[in-house]
Amino acid sequence: MNYGKVSITKQNNTIDCQPIKATQLGRSDSAWRNGYGMPSDGKDTNSQNQPTRKLTKNAKSIIIYFSRSGSTELLASKIAQETDADILEIVVKDSYSGNYQKTLSRANSERESENYPELNMSVPDLSQYQNVYLGYPIWAMTLSHPMTAFLEAYGNQLSGKKIAPFMTEGGYGQGDSVQRIREILREQGATKNTFTSALVVDGNKVDKSDKRVDKWVEQVK
Ligand SMILES: Cc1cc2nc3c(=O)[nH]c(=O)nc-3n(C[C@H](O)[C@H](O)[C@H](O)COP(=O)(O)O)c2cc1C
Repeated sequence: MNYGKVSITKQNNTIDCQPIKATQLGRSDSAWRNGYGMPSDGKDTNSQNQPTRKLTKNAKSIIIYFSRSGSTELLASKIAQETDADILEIVVKDSYSGNYQKTLSRANSERESENYPELNMSVPDLSQYQNVYLGYPIWAMTLSHPMTAFLEAYGNQLSGKKIAPFMTEGGYGQGDSVQRIREILREQGATKNTFTSALVVDGNKVDKSDKRVDKWVEQVK
């Protein structure tokens, strides 16, 4: 059958139909200063939005992510466009401050005390999924704490799944974050996980990452 010419427009800067506000985009490297000082709207990603939650009966992949200032959420949206995966945003009870310094000092004390944030979300049965895309910003060269808290609480549900880590960072790379995912899953009793290579994108350049995202997604699928 001839459907004629079909033009497909990618819907940019939305995730599950909600707008994404990413404060780092468009800043030159010198103005961005490796993400140092980046504000957020104080509600982890979007005070105007409901936490993203797209759960369907038949999807075999799910994107589970946390984002404070929107860059990781934008990266998650690009992966979602390429995969049609379900999406689950990690939500903490007490969201991180819009102020960078306050967030930094809270994150430092959480890390030193290993007292990670309380989550405020219901998590579905994850048994239908084969591929799990895990997305987070890098904090202090490791996993940001909402992702740590999520894995400590639900890591046992990820047994046997293919884990595809993706992250945004301030230009210093992935740190030990993937190693931490492996450790926490092991501690939670998850076994037989496989890992893909990680997708690592600078927080101020996610809007220019489409080609890398497409290539990475192809080797995950
Ligand atoms: C508390 C905190 C600690 C950070 N530590 C690092 C770091 O160690 N290395 C790095 O490259 N970027 C670091 N960053 C920068 C973030 O990883 C970067 O801005 C990221 O794109 C933020 O993602 P988001 O917009 O999804 O929250 C840090 C940011 C914050 C808020």
